[in-house]
Amino acid sequence: MLLKPVKSAAQKIALVPTMGALHKGHISLLELAQQKADVVVCSIFVNPTQFTDPKDLEKYPRPLEHDIQMLEAAGCDIVFMPAVAEMYPTPETWHIDLGPAEFLLEGAFRKGHYQGVTQIVKKLFDAVDPDIACFGQKDFQQILMIRQMVAHFDLKLEILSCPIIREDDGLAMSSRNIHLSAADRQHALILSKALNYVHENFDTKPIAELLIDAETMISATPGVELDYFTIANGETLLPESDKNAQNIVALVAAKVGQTRLIDNILLS
Ligand code: PAJ
Repeated sequence: MLLKPVKSAAQKIALVPTMGALHKGHISLLELAQQKADVVVCSIFVNPTQFTDPKDLEKYPRPLEHDIQMLEAAGCDIVFMPAVAEMYPTPETWHIDLGPAEFLLEGAFRKGHYQGVTQIVKKLFDAVDPDIACFGQKDFQQILMIRQMVAHFDLKLEILSCPIIREDDGLAMSSRNIHLSAADRQHALILSKALNYVHENFDTKPIAELLIDAETMISATPGVELDYFTIANGETLLPESDKNAQNIVALVAAKVGQTRLIDNILLS
């Protein structure tokens, strides 16, 4: 309804989908959206179908008032906060082919996660009908999966990827960081340190050696349980062995205390 006059005035609409518990990373997406479009919509919806662990869904932070204050301060035009029953009026049987990368890395650890993500993002696109949608490189595989979904339905909108926003000490900002204890918070720094180490030494050391070094650094850190550290092709997410290839990315996931964190860095 609200967006009808915007559409008829042929103005550009950008959507920033989020699950709330907003931080500067989310706001950076909003700022990019503001540069690219006339009207910016930010959605806040904690999407049940993308959670593989019910406890994770239950404890997902929902500081709604603070989120709205942040969005107001950042000059967001419209906040879209649908109810679960509105997005899922009937049980869903959604399943689309997202290609083999769906089952790698995060997909291997969180079964069905990208079906849930692409499902809700399609529903948000249907509701808002944006010309542009902004996503963070922080969730590297998520953007690949969303691009697959957009290609699958031949949707006419532009997907923009935004750089990872970090704390001063290098920790990638995440809504889940509030679950880290003071000790976890220190231990978690090893993830960005290992990624930076690989980035800094990428031109001089073989990939196999970089992987061993990074894994050793992470395994030596107390309270950190590594799920994967990989140097991969940024399109297929398969391990990359050719340093001269284009589009190489290092990706890491680990449990720090009780909190699972992900991070990545572009290498070429
Ligand atoms: P959420 O985790 O809230 O993230 C919303 C968007 O913010 C995503 O595009 C994510 O990549 C981006 N983001 C998170 N941390 C960031 C950081 N440190 N720097 C830059 N961008 C960052 O991702 C989701 O929600 C959901 O899966 C969603 C796409 C909304 C579908 O439910």
